[in-house]
Amino acid sequence: MIGRLNHVAIATSDLEKSAALYRDTLGARVSTPKPQPEHGVTTVFVELPGSKIELLEPLGENSPIANFMKRNPDGGIHHLCFEVDDILAARDRLTGEGARILGDGEPKTGAHGKPVLFLHPKDFGGVLIELEQA
Ligand code: CO
Repeated sequence: MIGRLNHVAIATSDLEKSAALYRDTLGARVSTPKPQPEHGVTTVFVELPGSKIELLEPLGENSPIANFMKRNPDGGIHHLCFEVDDILAARDRLTGEGARILGDGEPKTGAHGKPVLFLHPKDFGGVLIELEQA
């Protein structure tokens, strides 16, 4: 059911420092920072062949990664995002198998303007999984 690994999201408290690590130390192509107030994060995209890394820094009062940063002050891997062909079919299959969807269970528009859902990390070995309809 899941397809390509669309991105690995890494939370950081210092976006410029993290971007410099990927750009200067690891030699990757790195975007400029993009504030996404509607998602409560500022993002930097690290372009890799066939996939990408998204660096996330909390933005604003109610950032969805604020609790993660409290538990992990130095940042770390926040979620994996896999592509699916049909997000509603994927949701129905997963909930049919007992998996929990975060929030109200309806797809939201994600950081790339496409429908996304998040799966409960307790149902997936402690890993927060995002599904994106590609
Ligand atoms: Co994501």
